[in-house]
Amino acid sequence: VEEIQRFYNPKDTQYATHSFHSYPGKFVPQIVRALIKEYTEENDTILDPFCGSGTSLLEANLLKRYAIGLELNPLGCLISNVKTTALDTRELRKATQILMREFKQKQKKLTLQDFIPEINKDIPDFSNRTKWFNPNVLRELTILKKIIRKIDDNNIRNFHLLAFSSTVKEASNSSSLYRLTFSNNKKIFPTLHVFYVFEKIISRMTFIMDIHNKIICSERTKTLKQDARSGFNFKKVDCIITNPPSFNFDFARSFKIHLWWLDEDVNLVDKKLIGTKRVKENITYLSIDWIDNLILELKKVRETTARALSKYFRDIEKVFQNSYRVLKEGRYCCVRANSFILLNTQIDIPRIFTELAERSGFRLMKRIKRNIPRKAFIFAKEDRTEEYLLFIK
Ligand SMILES: C[S@@+](CC[C@H](N)C(=O)[O-])C[C@H]1O[C@@H](n2cnc3c(N)ncnc32)[C@H](O)[C@@H]1O
Repeated sequence: VEEIQRFYNPKDTQYATHSFHSYPGKFVPQIVRALIKEYTEENDTILDPFCGSGTSLLEANLLKRYAIGLELNPLGCLISNVKTTALDTRELRKATQILMREFKQKQKKLTLQDFIPEINKDIPDFSNRTKWFNPNVLRELTILKKIIRKIDDNNIRNFHLLAFSSTVKEASNSSSLYRLTFSNNKKIFPTLHVFYVFEKIISRMTFIMDIHNKIICSERTKTLKQDARSGFNFKKVDCIITNPPSFNFDFARSFKIHLWWLDEDVNLVDKKLIGTKRVKENITYLSIDWIDNLILELKKVRETTARALSKYFRDIEKVFQNSYRVLKEGRYCCVRANSFILLNTQIDIPRIFTELAERSGFRLMKRIKRNIPRKAFIFAKEDRTEEYLLFIK
């Protein structure tokens, strides 16, 4: 890991199907690869209870291991599934051709009048639709989505849906990398803009699939849309590798433009994810003095934040307990952990995670610090330049 860190170049993380769709908080694949090689053998099973876009699942697959990923964000599930499912590219190309033909016909026939957001129920319902998307783009995305939804084959449909999801971002008026706001400087998009963006994205994905469909073995990998806090009902695994959600990251909201077009309810997704700030329950202390004192201190400054943080710790502990139950004896769980500053207080996540893991039965064997260039944190408001990997057994 230390060697990888020294020679690491962010551009090198885009090999195989890793580049299919952007996702914040992605693992560096080379690091996951090193961990898999160190702690498992061929045909072992790896679990990632927070698999996100499936980086660990794909790496496991490429290294001939089995892998199970849990994820509650529907977009994460979609990306992870598509990245780890080998497809026959002849079938894929055929489906794309039929779809593009139908798209061109429909877009000629249906005028802007057919796509007044308040009237056309096929346009997803979200506020400021015409500010996020130029009317022509709204119209073309709606036509495209409807045609993709009609594809019979589940895997081929998902592949196209993922390309569609990237198209949504590229054709939007989103002003930032993390798609939180729209820009008032409207971009000008010509007719068929969506068509050409989609065509470019799907051609690139199909080209990559063509090279990798003989290496990826779909049967080895499973992405489950499941809450990591609920019991795990699968056989014991040989290794766990995971990057848990951060407390202060607005996950669902940073995907909202994708979730809208996948017909998902952003608020509902947000409420379900660990780390959400929208918590109603009262503070429950952990009976670990120094952590409880930290929450008490935060409560004096802002009760809502203290409430959410205490829930975050309890949720993470549940996942450690589940992980402990499902990991074979003597095997390793590798967890990424980053400290951060909240209301001027340092939250020592590596130490807190270690306490929670040890209370669940694990033992900390070692921890590695990884320095990250400050510019890598495009989105983080907090002061954070290092991350840790915890190795618990
Ligand atoms: C830091 S991201 C993981 C990214 C992943 N390592 C990758 O390479 O894409 C954490 C993930 O945990 C997911 N998550 C949050 N709460 C969850 C829960 N209760 N059960 C399962 N997944 C959850 C989030 O949706 C997010 O995708």
